[in-house]
Amino acid sequence: MPASPQFELTRRLEFSAAHRLFNPAFSEAQNRRTFGPCFNHHGHNYVLEVTLRGPVEPATGMVVDLNWLAGRLQELVFAEVDHRDLDRDVPWLAGRVSTAENVVAAVWDRLAPHMEGRLWRLRLFESAANVVDYHGPRG
Ligand code: NI
Repeated sequence: MPASPQFELTRRLEFSAAHRLFNPAFSEAQNRRTFGPCFNHHGHNYVLEVTLRGPVEPATGMVVDLNWLAGRLQELVFAEVDHRDLDRDVPWLAGRVSTAENVVAAVWDRLAPHMEGRLWRLRLFESAANVVDYHGPRG
């Protein structure tokens, strides 16, 4: 039997948040050398793209229900990070340098158990120029 065709379905989420890049194990001089202007508090209008991959369910014509996905993303991510300081206000981001790489990995860990095994890719735009793709801890 041939494998079912696979589809990749993406939902986009925008949020605004503050952060700074610093490592508490570094001296201030070392932080400034390592992170430059990003050591100062600043903000981003982040765009997160969440891609689920799977076959279309014949009865619904859907990979997943986008309304269901939108609700989960609102609850699990947006409500936690929008208009927050990522370093101080978000327990599941604590203890790591809040680079886009580390933020997207933490979002993956938070979302994956709720995505019915379909989570395929996260793409986080920190700005129009800077974007990170992540496919989970197994690469
Ligand atoms: Ni930044």
